Amino acid sequence: MTRQRVVFGNWKLNGTRAEVDAWAACADEAAAAAADSVLVGVAPPAVWIERVAARVGAARVAAQNISEHARGAHTGELGAAMALEAGADWTLVGHSERRQLYGESDATVAAKVSAAFRAGLGVVLCVGETLEERERDATWAVVRRQIDLALPSPPPSLDRIAIAYEPVWAIGTGRTATPEQAQDVHSQIRGWLRARDMRAAAQVRVIYGGSVNADNATELFACEDVDGALVGGASLDPAQFAAICATAAAAR
Ligand code: PGA
Repeated sequence: MTRQRVVFGNWKLNGTRAEVDAWAACADEAAAAAADSVLVGVAPPAVWIERVAARVGAARVAAQNISEHARGAHTGELGAAMALEAGADWTLVGHSERRQLYGESDATVAAKVSAAFRAGLGVVLCVGETLEERERDATWAVVRRQIDLALPSPPPSLDRIAIAYEPVWAIGTGRTATPEQAQDVHSQIRGWLRARDMRAAAQVRVIYGGSVNADNATELFACEDVDGALVGGASLDPAQFAAICATAAAAR
């Protein structure tokens, strides 16, 4: 079965008003060019979600993070329903920068996944090991724990979840996992899905993140279980992001 590929750009804490307008226009063009073969999306800073959503037609818009709470005394937080109302239809959850810099636990990530689904947002669930964990051969134990706790069972709408395998040591470092390293973990994630639900194993997109760029996208997308990418740094370069989307459209 051919799964539609997924490429999301994660802009992190970047983007002036003028920059996000330009990046959104390019991402939208890339999404339109890739048509149905790739779901292309961007994750702007929260303050720009509404602006970007108003400027794109073909591209999806994701929040970078949402609160596990729906409303109340949580200064500085963004509710899932608010993100949806502002024009997001997806959200990243559990990005390693959230886990490492802001202390998000597996339990918090699980609560955020539930909050996103309750509000009707699609979820890009980010998982991945640190270098220290890889070096002591704990990669799959860590990734499995992160998935087990965040997704006790695959959600009912399988096209509204993507799992992003992002080895922490490859994020923003210029050091990409080799295609073999990516495929190895992706196939284990696929096996995890298969053990729970054959349909989920066939349909859930497992995407790779960590220093993906226009040069390494081809070999990553050639891997059987790599269904796309979560792109950080290279998504701030519109030509490069468009090239990654085009590579995804041409792959397989
Ligand atoms: P990077 O970031 O592409 O800059 O490594 C990926 C991510 O953080 O999702």
